[in-house]
Amino acid sequence: MPSHNSSKDASPEDVPFLVTDPELIPSRRYYDEKFFELERERLWPKVWQMACRLEEIPQPGDWVEYRNLDKSVIVTRTREGVKAFNNACRHRGVQLVTGRGNSGSQGFICPFHGWRFAPDGKNTFVYAREIFSEDKLTPDQVDLVPVRVEEWAGCAFINFDENAAPLLESLGPVVQRLNSRNVDRLKVDWWESAVLPVNWKLAMEAFMEGYHVMRTHPQLHLLAAPGLGWQSDNVGPSGPKGTKARIQSAQDYACNTIRYLARLHAGMAGMVDAFEVNVAETLHDMELPEGDFGAMAQAFYGRLNQEITDMGRRRGLPMFDLNQVAMEQKFNAVEYMFPHFFLLPMFSAMSSYRIRPLTPETCLFEIWALKLCPESEERPVPVAPTPRAHDDPGFPEIPRQDYSNLPLQQLGLHAGGFDHMILSKQYEGLISNYQRLIDGYLGGTAPDKLARAAHVVNSGYDAPIADIGF
Ligand code: FES
Ligand SMILES: [Fe+2]
Repeated sequence: MPSHNSSKDASPEDVPFLVTDPELIPSRRYYDEKFFELERERLWPKVWQMACRLEEIPQPGDWVEYRNLDKSVIVTRTREGVKAFNNACRHRGVQLVTGRGNSGSQGFICPFHGWRFAPDGKNTFVYAREIFSEDKLTPDQVDLVPVRVEEWAGCAFINFDENAAPLLESLGPVVQRLNSRNVDRLKVDWWESAVLPVNWKLAMEAFMEGYHVMRTHPQLHLLAAPGLGWQSDNVGPSGPKGTKARIQSAQDYACNTIRYLARLHAGMAGMVDAFEVNVAETLHDMELPEGDFGAMAQAFYGRLNQEITDMGRRRGLPMFDLNQVAMEQKFNAVEYMFPHFFLLPMFSAMSSYRIRPLTPETCLFEIWALKLCPESEERPVPVAPTPRAHDDPGFPEIPRQDYSNLPLQQLGLHAGGFDHMILSKQYEGLISNYQRLIDGYLGGTAPDKLARAAHVVNSGYDAPIADIGF
């Protein structure tokens, strides 16, 4: 696969708007055309991209198109497993498929002159073969060009780079954290998307820190109970002072937390499943130790985890032991996987995001609600949604609140005198870490260094600024 620029001829000197102070992010990275072009040339062709949910292609012959910028890939299930191909007829380059479908008994047929390709990419038909020079029709010249594809977490990931490390090696320790939560058993409950009038990186950054919760999601901030690490993280460094003042007793703590989980379910749907809210409600009168919020949280969540685990198993879900996982793995309410994929675990369910650039100042943001389902349950094949406007009232409350700031931020970045963002080194470090990893790709940093850096970058939100190794 030819690439415009190999990393050999790239150097940090020719990357514009480089992050030179990890706490300051230059504003032009979010709209400069040259920067966007460099990402197209040097970042996207080198990274593992989440291309589809495997449930989109349940049967042999099923295919789905994955498009990012000017590249389109066919991801298809064959009897030998999932394969991916560049979406271009080898004759004169016509794109073979758009959207989704099943290649059926005929395989892929080019709409221009009718060349055909089997589901495994082999060319099976050239109309009037004798009119071509035979030496131009060897399999390596007429079979579809394969693209690397690997599966994990119920998704197919593609990579255009033959030399990239395998997917799981590229992702790093986040894989183990999510595997312990049976991430590959999750199924799509719903799928929505929005075109956002902002750079793709700006959209992602709205989900990389909990510092915004106090102002952007006041309904959550008011209910978030203190005492549990992730919960105080969840509301940022100031902590939920208002809540602390209002919680007078262990009973208040339980009520408040149940209301918080219900609000999270209503506002985000995917993160907390309805059955989990129901289980929480049964703990209304649970006895909790008085006084110490940490002890209350531990007692409440310990019991809630146990009850959800038991209920999940009774319902036939491929349920893991929530308390065991809580003991063995670090919990991150938002897990980021460079460059454009997120999973947000809570109890048994997760939300998931994928963000793709469209233009320097627009992007496509997708949200999935994922949940564990009984293996025997027939599930509908998820179909890509028509993107909504960012302010569509049909979005759940929480992402709508997150989206609402973004267009204003994109405009503000253009303002005279605004040269860079200022990051909290303690809580907004993920933004700095992944932005510096992008610089590594654009500036030609050695692949082994990039791989090591990704393991540091692929952390939960609210991470501090980290040494990523270059
Ligand atoms: S371009 Fe596909 S058959 Fe001619
Ligand atoms: Fe948010």
